[in-house]
Amino acid sequence: MKEIKHKRLILCGRIAAVLAVVPILMLGHPDGPDPRNTGAPGDKTCAQASCHVGPGNPTAGSGVEISFPGGLTYSPGVKQTITVRVTESANRFGFQATARPGSNLSNGQAGDFTATDERVQVLCEDGRVKTSACNSAAPVQFAEQTLAGSAANTWSFDWTPPATDVGTINFYVAGNAANGNGTNAGDRIFTRSYTLTPAASAPPPGIRAEQPVLQAFLGGQRLSPGTWLEIYGSNLATANKDWGGLFTENNTKAPSSIDGVSVAIDGKPAAMYFISPNQINVQAPDTIGLGPVSVEVTTPGGKATTTATATAVSPAMLTTPAFKVNGKQYIAALHQDRVFVGPAGLIAGASFRPAKPGDIVTIYTVGCGATEPASPSGVVVAGLRTPKAAARVTIGQATAQAAVALSPGSIGLCQVNATIPNVSNGDQPIELTLDGSPTGQGLFITVQQ
Ligand code: HEM
Repeated sequence: MKEIKHKRLILCGRIAAVLAVVPILMLGHPDGPDPRNTGAPGDKTCAQASCHVGPGNPTAGSGVEISFPGGLTYSPGVKQTITVRVTESANRFGFQATARPGSNLSNGQAGDFTATDERVQVLCEDGRVKTSACNSAAPVQFAEQTLAGSAANTWSFDWTPPATDVGTINFYVAGNAANGNGTNAGDRIFTRSYTLTPAASAPPPGIRAEQPVLQAFLGGQRLSPGTWLEIYGSNLATANKDWGGLFTENNTKAPSSIDGVSVAIDGKPAAMYFISPNQINVQAPDTIGLGPVSVEVTTPGGKATTTATATAVSPAMLTTPAFKVNGKQYIAALHQDRVFVGPAGLIAGASFRPAKPGDIVTIYTVGCGATEPASPSGVVVAGLRTPKAAARVTIGQATAQAAVALSPGSIGLCQVNATIPNVSNGDQPIELTLDGSPTGQGLFITVQQ
């Protein structure tokens, strides 16, 4: 397709003067330049003669940038999502990027590019759009914008570094801040390069022996399909990072790895929320078996494994260490106006109000188990999904009317809306059981007639 287009481009160049008013879509160069225009050794740039020439083109060192999730380092074989941004304002945008090993900056290919949405395509240097691999005789790859991708200034795609340490790797990128007039005139071209070094081989991860896996919400050493977990240890990650910017499938699917760190429970990938050197927060896969299951952490430094016992449900209601006041662990429940339930002033800086009989309070919960219809872990909840397990909320000695469902827009979070029964004033014990299995958290809720 590219050769035909290249000839068409030359042809277009000749007749452009004649047909300048022809809509760009038909000629379509915003649908991605030919290979070798990144400004790398052996390449030209978009500003080569008869292309996007203009005052100051190409400008080096600004106007376009690449963000690397792990900074200017790479871990051999560990895929990372690269983000390219043209930082100059314009009406239309384009880019082309390449990754070359320090040992062969003109014709070497370092790793593998993979387009992850319709806004980016990967070309081989022979001009073909890369499907599986580029021809080994012409291995260099070029990530660039597609027509769909020329309307906005930011693109993401995946890069898997070489499986072994090849020393330094140079990235080269050219960016086009175009005026959108459908021609190659009046556009500003920028170039930039980055040198990545292999990450110092990360130390092997370790999972602590004492209480290695705890359920969120102070939910103890419990695990059930789809619940939220905290895994504790050492060398689990080089820095704190959460899932921000890593969702896929139109922002509905959470990542299964962050900076090369991933967790498998019962051999199934967990949804990753947060990593740090000593703690990882994940959602357990909804497909794990029951009984003893393996919990395996993988990092660029290696693997660490422990076991935990899975049950069908493991309810835990939202609370945190901050809600332990004068030796009492209060629940972090919310009134419908989002004010916390509790004695006024319970925690400085937050608003609290006791609940009175008849009030409906919202209790966020994890460990609700399987739902109807099923709710795949790591996927944003859409529609009504109710736990298969029978729920019962008691406050004091009374049973509270309660409706339970997964919280829409959340991932794996159960929402219990409970009506406060007619119980006496004061801090009342509150418990939730699912199919008779209690939280065992010993929480209190403050009631005031
Ligand atoms: C990485 C390098 C390049 C990028 C990112 C790029 C990007 C773009 C973009 C975004 C447009 C739309 C401009 C607008 O509507 O204002 C465009 C148009 C155009 N570009 Fe490029 N371009 C690159 C390299 C080149 C090169 C090397 C040539 C010449 C061989 C070229 C020739 C053209 C032409 C003739 C047009 C007008 C539309 C057309 O006839 O297809 N571009 N390009």
